[in-house]
Amino acid sequence: MNAETSLYRAHLDTIKARADAALQKGGFDHLLIASGVEKFEFLDDRPYPFRPNPQFKAWLPLTRHPQCWIAYTPGRKPVLVYFQPDDYWHVPPSPPSGVWVDEFDIRVVSDPAQVAQHLPANGRAAIIGEADAAVPGFAPNDPRTVIDYLHYQRAYKTAWELERMRAAQRRAVPGHLAAREAFLAGASEMAIHAEYLRATGHTDLDLPYTNIVCLNEHAAVLHYQYKDAAAPTRSRTLLIDAGAEVDGYNADITRTWGDGDERFERLVAAVDAEQQALCGLVRAGTDYRELHLQAHLRLGNVLRTLGVVDMDPGDMLATGVTSVFFPHGLGHPIGLQVHDVAGFQDEDGQLIPRPEGHPYLRMTRTLAPGMVVTIEPGLYFIPMLLAQLRETPQAKHVDWDLVEHFLPFGGVRIEDEVHCTDGEPENLTRDAFA
Ligand code: GLY
Ligand code: MN
Ligand code: MN
Repeated sequence: MNAETSLYRAHLDTIKARADAALQKGGFDHLLIASGVEKFEFLDDRPYPFRPNPQFKAWLPLTRHPQCWIAYTPGRKPVLVYFQPDDYWHVPPSPPSGVWVDEFDIRVVSDPAQVAQHLPANGRAAIIGEADAAVPGFAPNDPRTVIDYLHYQRAYKTAWELERMRAAQRRAVPGHLAAREAFLAGASEMAIHAEYLRATGHTDLDLPYTNIVCLNEHAAVLHYQYKDAAAPTRSRTLLIDAGAEVDGYNADITRTWGDGDERFERLVAAVDAEQQALCGLVRAGTDYRELHLQAHLRLGNVLRTLGVVDMDPGDMLATGVTSVFFPHGLGHPIGLQVHDVAGFQDEDGQLIPRPEGHPYLRMTRTLAPGMVVTIEPGLYFIPMLLAQLRETPQAKHVDWDLVEHFLPFGGVRIEDEVHCTDGEPENLTRDAFA
């Protein structure tokens, strides 16, 4: 058996063990998982890009495969109903092949009406999928106990998953390097994005999320969604938040580059230093909420050191000043989804609350070996939030001339993926850049 096969088999054993435990918790005999169905534009026959049910792609690396089902009964080989339509308008899925084929009892069907005959006729089934994936007799019931448990466990990556995640990083990095070159050459957002696609081999449709490509003030828009076709007269900043995908596993990386302005370069270097320090704190047993609050203190210290806000960082955090400049969470779990589910629940689905006043934090769990999280601190100059700050008693501690200087640069964000281990964290992103 080659290394790839044994890694995959070990992965599948973990997935089955989780399914066994989830079924027992929920009192079910079978686990059925629908990959999903294509969605179409209203009043038209044009499909949106297909995104499979993440609980489906946890079992096997099929990402372009609507209308497939997994039927698993503990102790038995899982059945894969593999939909391969006769279609001359589109390229249908190729015949099943890959490291996973021997692990499934594969039933190829060409018509969705044939699916139900391959699903278990008796017993209680937990059926996981979207409502529109239903086939006769098998409507998704998405039992909470089962879903909560499976979601929670997905935070812990298997060795096979970590290999995919490292590969996704290696796919994204050439895109980031090409984007930087294009920025330094004065390219538009649209042209920078095109360079990114070329270097990663992605198209817009198969990126894990819409690339965020911001020049100048656009870097202050957290999820800036457009790409200007015209280059600005002066390109001060590139903030690019762009990922890549391998076998359904995602990368989510942000880099910020300046054009040599001394004060902005110092800001970028300071955020980068704090980001790396925070990455180093991704340790088993650490409550991610503590990391988030520590990020506020560290960024507050950057604001003070650079002379933007003359306040004690603890006071900045307490009075909401750091949230003006850092108005999002430190990061989130990542894997089969860019924002993996179950960032703020325990295995029974009970909420692990966010710190008060931090509504956008997507991760409140305690770090443990096998988890992969993003660490993505940022400092931004967002006119809307700065206008609110001007109306507070803290406004007198702000160097508004310096804020004016930074406004045309937009902001800084640096984002890596970090794997929590038994010891030293593994920074998947920096390793790929190296
Ligand atoms: N790219 C979205 C995020 O960083 O969470
Ligand atoms: Mn992210
Ligand atoms: Mn991102």
